[in-house]
Amino acid sequence: MKGSLSHAWRNHAIVRALLYSTALPGPTKRMLIRLTIFLGIAMFAAQGPSLLSHQRAKSESATRKPDVASGETTFAQYCASCHGTTGKGDGPAASAMKTQPPDLRTLTKRNEGKFPGGYVSALLKFGRNFAAHGSTEMPVWGTRFRSLDPTNDPTGQNHIDDVVAYINSLQIP
Ligand code: HEC
Repeated sequence: MKGSLSHAWRNHAIVRALLYSTALPGPTKRMLIRLTIFLGIAMFAAQGPSLLSHQRAKSESATRKPDVASGETTFAQYCASCHGTTGKGDGPAASAMKTQPPDLRTLTKRNEGKFPGGYVSALLKFGRNFAAHGSTEMPVWGTRFRSLDPTNDPTGQNHIDDVVAYINSLQIP
């Protein structure tokens, strides 16, 4: 019984082709290659969608909604001394600075009506030097924000996103 099963199995075209592949004539070898490719595609067709949806789920969790209230807290704590609580640029430390902090409420207005979220985010992460111009009096926040909540926000990106959302909420026409 056991023998007949394994015999039938061994007679199976694919298994036979695999077992004796070195002795295969050209056309059979080509067929085997095509069959392997076909099986590969068939397996991907069966698995692919679930792999893709898994990836989609991952990127969905990566696009977390920014928390404006948390951004306000962070802004009050780290930015308002220079930029003022409303972002106007009238914080208590502003007058002592060589470069006056710009009015953060007019970012959208100064950018053809579109809030430059990517610019603000990059400025916070990398500092002024990522751009060719500007002073270096604006501190870099990337490292600082990474240390605020190492468990839930190890890259500091959530803190940056929240502050950026808060600044967006300050925009005046
Ligand atoms: C020590 C004072 C100081 C602190 C604190 C500070 N900034 Fe600034 N910031 C400046 C100065 C000065 C400039 C203008 C110089 C420049 O752009 O290089 C500036 C520029 C900016 C700009 C660019 C504005 C524009 O019109 O291009 C943004 C955005 C900004 N700051 C956001 C923040 C945020 C958010 C925080 C808090 C996490 C913060 N700043 C903390 C001094 C400060």
